[in-house]
Amino acid sequence: TMADHLRKYETIFTLTPQRMRIVVEAFKETLELGLEKPKQVVPMIPTFVFDWPTGEETGDFLAVDLGGTNLRVCLVTLQGNGKFEITQSKYRLTEEQKQEDGQKLFDFCAECLKTFIDTNLGEGTVKEGEKLPLGFTFSYPCSQERIDHGELIRWTKGFGATNTEGRDVAAMFRESLKTHNVPAELTAIINDTTGTLIASSYVNPRTRIAVIFGTGCNAAYMERVGDIPKIKNLGIDDEAQMAINCEWGAFDSFEHEHLPRTKYDQIIDETSNKPGEQAFEKLISGRYLGEILRLVICELIDEGVLFLGQNTYKIETAYAFDTAGTVDDHRYFTHFFALETTLAERQFFRALAKLVGRRAARLSACGIAAIVSRMGYLEEGCSVGADGSLYNKYPGFADRVHEGLQDIFGDKGRNIVTYHAEDGSGVGSAIIASMTKIRKDKGL
Ligand code: BG6
Ligand code: GLC
Repeated sequence: TMADHLRKYETIFTLTPQRMRIVVEAFKETLELGLEKPKQVVPMIPTFVFDWPTGEETGDFLAVDLGGTNLRVCLVTLQGNGKFEITQSKYRLTEEQKQEDGQKLFDFCAECLKTFIDTNLGEGTVKEGEKLPLGFTFSYPCSQERIDHGELIRWTKGFGATNTEGRDVAAMFRESLKTHNVPAELTAIINDTTGTLIASSYVNPRTRIAVIFGTGCNAAYMERVGDIPKIKNLGIDDEAQMAINCEWGAFDSFEHEHLPRTKYDQIIDETSNKPGEQAFEKLISGRYLGEILRLVICELIDEGVLFLGQNTYKIETAYAFDTAGTVDDHRYFTHFFALETTLAERQFFRALAKLVGRRAARLSACGIAAIVSRMGYLEEGCSVGADGSLYNKYPGFADRVHEGLQDIFGDKGRNIVTYHAEDGSGVGSAIIASMTKIRKDKGL
């Protein structure tokens, strides 16, 4: 029966508290290694975003957000003390654009920004010969030497634009802005997690960590400069605080020695455009959850358990499931795959989606716990700003993360609370652009 099958998958996708604690330990060591030495698998990237915002940040800022499903262009007006206004436009990126020449991709971003400025900013907002400060949220691993520089280490999340890895994407985007005569000056390049960290703290000062659960999965937090051995040589004040973009999606890449991977996870990895990479992310993020589910369903089709006598070719296409969150709706199957489902089957799919989502949430809890334990945040407690489609839309996701934290830390786990973060890629980017300007004006 379906119930027997479910029990089997329950065993496969369940993570015990004991196992979680082992993952946390390995995770913590990995984070520490990344802080110590350059070029580690989990790169722990110093972002040159110093300290928390003060509330003094004010003014008009442009933000371009490239990094997930959409390209977004925003005008953010910071009014100080946690208040802001935002105007934005979204543009869909095609699969071709994600793979073609990188400069073309940035040209497209520049064109969209130009159109946005022309349609949304009143005559005279940008004075002749002047430029508006622009924060660029580029949500891929970039190693930075300054706030306005970022060398793409590698593409993630299925992107593969050529002639971009290893290059300074800030310089590439500046080039495109110039070609298209856009009155914007790129002053900061940031990751969505860093933006989320700063934007969240702008409205909730208890925030210490930010996590994105979207197409990708990653986290940022603040570290004392003196505790980042690999940048000691830069002569920055030890007591200063700098945001670290962990790029934790890369945890356990290549070696695969710490995470419990199933055969479905292995198939996803092997058929991806970057086998071996982003091992942690592949078990968690929205880009892969639907695919894990689909692979299980295909296995049951092969075993003759599901959809006997029906034509299943549509569901047998890789990545045919956009998300795993809607599988209990019978219209979903008839509409997209021309398949009839029984109530029992739909209940099974929903239970399966829960299992896969629960595993993702519990693994993420391990990452959060590793940071909490490194920074000693458990006793006092802290807030974790979280954002992304998975966190915002997957039923019960936040609750499962919180349960995971309690399984790791016991009752004290309740001190760590996630909440829906402010728009890090737009507002966060603007606040960071403003913080950069304030530092510059002070001659820092
Ligand atoms: C949004 C956040 O909710 O999710 C962004 O505001 C983040 O900061 C994005 O980059 C990630 O989601 P996705 O699904 O587009 O990768
Ligand atoms: C991927 C990217 C990372 C980003 C995350 C969430 O993991 O490498 O930079 O923060 O997705 O969008």
